[in-house]
Amino acid sequence: MKRFRQKYYDYFSRIYDRFVAIHSTDRALRLRYFLADNTGLKKGGNVLDICTGTGSALIPLKEKVQAQGRVVGVDFSIGMLQAGKSKISDDDSIFLVLADVAYLPFKNEAFHAVTCSHAFYELKGETQDNCLQEIGRVLKPGSPFLMMEHDVPKNLFIRMLFYLRLLSMGPKKALEILRHERELLMRYFRSVEKISTPTGRSKIMICKGRI
Ligand SMILES: C[S@@+](CC[C@H](N)C(=O)[O-])C[C@H]1O[C@@H](n2cnc3c(N)ncnc32)[C@H](O)[C@@H]1O
Repeated sequence: MKRFRQKYYDYFSRIYDRFVAIHSTDRALRLRYFLADNTGLKKGGNVLDICTGTGSALIPLKEKVQAQGRVVGVDFSIGMLQAGKSKISDDDSIFLVLADVAYLPFKNEAFHAVTCSHAFYELKGETQDNCLQEIGRVLKPGSPFLMMEHDVPKNLFIRMLFYLRLLSMGPKKALEILRHERELLMRYFRSVEKISTPTGRSKIMICKGRI
């Protein structure tokens, strides 16, 4: 199943940015800037964006840590990372790493923040659990994990698509997320705060304090 998703994204990467440009309400990257604004990152910080895809969060994050900092995007699809490369062309403080987020190839306490935009609901079962553990491991003490995801849509058709996406995690995980998302995250972090994005269509869960 994982290999299928990887291949799916390798193919999808050819049109992903064009597809997002047509369908997304975030053409100006307002959501990604909002995500970066809430990390608390400062000049010289290190930040990891998991499931980075074509790297749409990387430039907003880079603006927070500036040239002295380090921005790392990790994804298991070589196609998505290659598509992202053109966005960061000559920037030698942004790194793209090919890896499964269930096993993050970084040292303990390496990052001042970890972000994930519109991808967490794609992680299933053990991968999701391992990933949350790994995020806690690579974060410096007290530093946040920010998980940005779609909130339950008001429009009936879009809501149906949202539920279908959740169901791809498996019915058990989907129910757990819908009913007990905060509790799920609180198995790994001491504090979990939810904020809404300016569009009102997405939310950010800000998780701190690894358990
Ligand atoms: C919907 S895209 C989101 C990309 C990006 N964060 C954005 O906001 O545009 C989901 C991404 O998650 C990646 N992904 C899914 N499962 C993964 C895993 N287990 N390890 C690493 N990347 C994964 C996919 O390859 C894809 O690039």
